[in-house]
Amino acid sequence: MSGDPRAGGIRDGYAPVAAAYAEELSGELAGKPLDRAFLDAYAEVTRGAGRVVEIGCGPGQIAAYLHARGVAVEGLDLSPEMIAEASARHPGVGFCVGDMFALPYGDGALAGLVAFYAIVHTPTADLARPFAEIARVLAPGGLAAIAFHAGDAQVHLDVMFGQPTALDFWFHAPDAVVAALEAVGLVVEARLDRAPYPDVEHASRRTYLLARRPEGTLSRLSTLHPTQS
Ligand SMILES: C[S@@+](CC[C@H](N)C(=O)[O-])C[C@H]1O[C@@H](n2cnc3c(N)ncnc32)[C@H](O)[C@@H]1O
Repeated sequence: MSGDPRAGGIRDGYAPVAAAYAEELSGELAGKPLDRAFLDAYAEVTRGAGRVVEIGCGPGQIAAYLHARGVAVEGLDLSPEMIAEASARHPGVGFCVGDMFALPYGDGALAGLVAFYAIVHTPTADLARPFAEIARVLAPGGLAAIAFHAGDAQVHLDVMFGQPTALDFWFHAPDAVVAALEAVGLVVEARLDRAPYPDVEHASRRTYLLARRPEGTLSRLSTLHPTQS
């Protein structure tokens, strides 16, 4: 499968901002109780179930949070600078450069997949390809956790955290994301919509989804695929 058609611009956009992004957001979960609750629930059901990958992991704060809760999680990101930040900040977690449009994992290889704000640089109409990859790499019963900015805005940034950049961001209508996940055969089991936390993050509404590849359960998966590190 071919890669992300916007890969070059995304890599170029994050190269100058990766260090500032990491500095700004590495402690973000301290101010986001609902995100922690969502990730705690996700950790509870994926811990011990097998390999979990966070795609679009950036500086790795979400993967590190799950790792600290016993999840066998790794991180993948398009940006080498983001992966360098993640590796330096979280040496106990494995990180690699990769593309969510062409994931380097076999069919059914993963018990879980996390995508926190990974789809912000992909228009809603183009989500079919990364979502097909998610469905392909999840084992039967595997669970995806997906977070994104809700709405219909499209934002271009020339400066991010004080650094020059050129990045385009797409917000997504939650019903359209649910439909795109269902179109690749995933079953959306849970949805959390929340208002922004003032003074903590960009003032946009957020949506969090849990989507499962059907035919099986994680407890059955755990029996078939013991935890890998
Ligand atoms: C807004 S950041 C989110 C980072 C982190 N997950 C967080 O919550 O702070 C979006 C990340 O997705 C990555 N990304 C965008 N498109 C990607 C793709 N096709 N494959 C892998 N990573 C991608 C970017 O490099 C960037 O690090």
